[in-house]
Amino acid sequence: MKKRLLNFQQFPERMMVAMTANLKVGIVGGTGMVGQRFVQLLDQHPWFEVTSIAASSSSAGKTYEEAVQNRWKLSESIPQAVRQIVVQNAADVEKVASEVDFVFCAVDMNKDEIKALEEAYAKTGTPVVSNNSAHRWTPDVPMVVPELNPQHLDVIAAQRKRLGTSTGFIAVKPNCSIQSYVPMLHALLDFKPTKVLTSTYQAISGAGKNFTDWPEMLDNIIPYIGGEEEKSEQEPLRIWGHVADGQIVKASAPLISVQCIRVPVTDGHFATVAVSFENKPSKEAILERWQSFKGRPQELELPSAPKQFITYFEEDNRPQTKLDRDIEGGMGITAGRLREDTLFDYKFVGLSHNTLRGAAGGAVLIAELLKAEGYIQPK
Ligand SMILES: NC(=O)c1ccc[n+]([C@@H]2O[C@H](COP(=O)([O-])OP(=O)(O)OC[C@H]3O[C@@H](n4cnc5c(N)ncnc54)[C@H](OP(=O)(O)O)[C@@H]3O)[C@@H](O)[C@H]2O)c1
Repeated sequence: MKKRLLNFQQFPERMMVAMTANLKVGIVGGTGMVGQRFVQLLDQHPWFEVTSIAASSSSAGKTYEEAVQNRWKLSESIPQAVRQIVVQNAADVEKVASEVDFVFCAVDMNKDEIKALEEAYAKTGTPVVSNNSAHRWTPDVPMVVPELNPQHLDVIAAQRKRLGTSTGFIAVKPNCSIQSYVPMLHALLDFKPTKVLTSTYQAISGAGKNFTDWPEMLDNIIPYIGGEEEKSEQEPLRIWGHVADGQIVKASAPLISVQCIRVPVTDGHFATVAVSFENKPSKEAILERWQSFKGRPQELELPSAPKQFITYFEEDNRPQTKLDRDIEGGMGITAGRLREDTLFDYKFVGLSHNTLRGAAGGAVLIAELLKAEGYIQPK
């Protein structure tokens, strides 16, 4: 099925900003699965233009079209604007950085190598917006869902000091799984959630696969995704933390328990959630909070921001991955089946698109927020 991605031409008011700024973007890891999503999402972006693509030495020197031949994973064809870009070696940091205003990074390397690579780019004065998990727990690196914790960008000042740069820094997005349940809980923080029990049912694209690459997943469920449960339990607490003394201090509540399951779905991470509160809200109050929730991206009308962040379905059989993952260009979150629970106060289900909101789309939204707030500027 063809994806209904945000078509920026439909939003003339969002296009206007393009007149004032057209930032040059590099994609480090641009030949990979997430990198391909960046290429696609940035095609005709009103603020950003891809001018440089970097990858491993095995892709360096080839045109982008040659480098992704036989491994282009998306149903849309490769955008014309990038086909002839000659892929550079990501290790040539100074050269790549000299051609761009900022970079997105999504590379498959070990954590220490990724940390060093991203810091090397930042130290050249280049902002790095990363899909990788390597820096998610670096104390002065903001890990951001723009609707939830834009105030964490305040920590960038301390990071710049540490890295010895006045313009470069690293900002990261969290793990793709948490977008399927954390937004709904976030909208209810006033009621003080005390404990949360979640299971995530995660699509195979989260492992960089489709059914051709991974036929064993057809008609199958795998009850283990390496490292995912720890991330799903801990990262929400960092999102709900605060900035103090140039660091993010994570929140201590609620208690969160998560099981992460791989299911035979192409795209879309689904979650079942049970939650108890210190001050139990009414069902109407919960629905009102979800319906009216707006974050900084909606206030600023950022190009990739969904107009409605959380959409609640009254139908008992919604949301469904196939029907609802592409809502708002894959950037909206959907919820359903809110009801009282026997062990907890309430239970409900949630869904988010893992490679759009949960990966490249989420990172593009962070970059839009960073630009709108003055953190990314033309060099
Ligand atoms: N897939 C998802 O849904 C998803 C979601 C969230 C986060 N992530 C994270 O995003 C990152 C990329 O994931 P992916 O699925 O896109 O991986 P992938 O398809 O395997 O692509 C990896 C990219 O890294 C490049 N690379 C590999 N070794 C390199 C090296 N030594 N130096 C420079 N570049 C190198 C590859 O270049 P070549 O093509 O030249 O080999 C390619 O561009 C990972 O950290 C992953 O955990 C993935």
